[in-house]
Amino acid sequence: MKMRALKIGAAALFTLGLGSGAAIGATSGHLEQQEWSFSGAFGTFDRAALQRGFQVYKEVCASCHSMKFLSYRNLQDIGFSEAEVKAIAAQYEVPTIDDNGDETTRKALPSDRFHSPFANENAARAANGGALPPDLSLMAKARHDGPNYIYGLMTGYHEAPAGFVLPAGKEYNAVFAGNAIGMPKPLNDDQVTYADGTPATVSQMAHDVATFLMWAAEPKLEDRKRAGVKVMGFLGILTIFSFLTYRKVRKQVQGH
Ligand code: HEC
Repeated sequence: MKMRALKIGAAALFTLGLGSGAAIGATSGHLEQQEWSFSGAFGTFDRAALQRGFQVYKEVCASCHSMKFLSYRNLQDIGFSEAEVKAIAAQYEVPTIDDNGDETTRKALPSDRFHSPFANENAARAANGGALPPDLSLMAKARHDGPNYIYGLMTGYHEAPAGFVLPAGKEYNAVFAGNAIGMPKPLNDDQVTYADGTPATVSQMAHDVATFLMWAAEPKLEDRKRAGVKVMGFLGILTIFSFLTYRKVRKQVQGH
């Protein structure tokens, strides 16, 4: 009876395992998988890629997309110095009230949130043919397989296949749901000039901006992975000690 219950349990576990494996395969199957420095148990963010990705966001995407959960000072996490962060912030103006109670603007400070390109949703839609450019702060987590999706989106602009009816003002994109997207192709070769001399191909910029967006959505990823590795190490040692104790107790019991 006991044996039968065990067998059923094992079969159920096996089926569950297979089932979830198949489900993962089915949903990410159409996205081309790129290599990412941050994947795997020991993954870390490539600082140079993060800085290049920020440059792409700042010079290209920021004209339409906000990243309202980021402050300029967060950029110190990706290797910018305090002085560099101050200088980046100072390129933007934020509204404030002066000593006379009048509305005015001041230079942004490291503690200010990233500048938003539009005053509100209506203004954003009006400038984009009715489509809303979503906030990108959490985008890499909001979409399934986020970094590969963002890479695919940036590199997925093609001629629409014969017979595909493209609505006015939309472009064909291979990975966007429904394939008709309201975002004009944002990246073309040499769209930016990288400070570190890396050639700015579409695929390089797509990879860098996806890395940057992944960091924005999960800035503590490296801490989480380090903690995971420590926990696994601890569990491993614990397992060895439990086994040794088990053997010792068993020997004593058998000895009687
Ligand atoms: C000219 C304005 C404009 C620029 C520049 C722009 N976008 Fe967009 N983006 C849009 C609009 C509009 C949408 C909404 C599209 C829709 O819903 O059809 C969008 C949607 C998106 C989405 C969400 C797609 C989805 O699954 O819903 C992502 C991700 C994105 N953009 C990333 C970027 C990145 C990264 C850059 C810079 C390399 C960029 N965009 C530059 C206008 C822009």
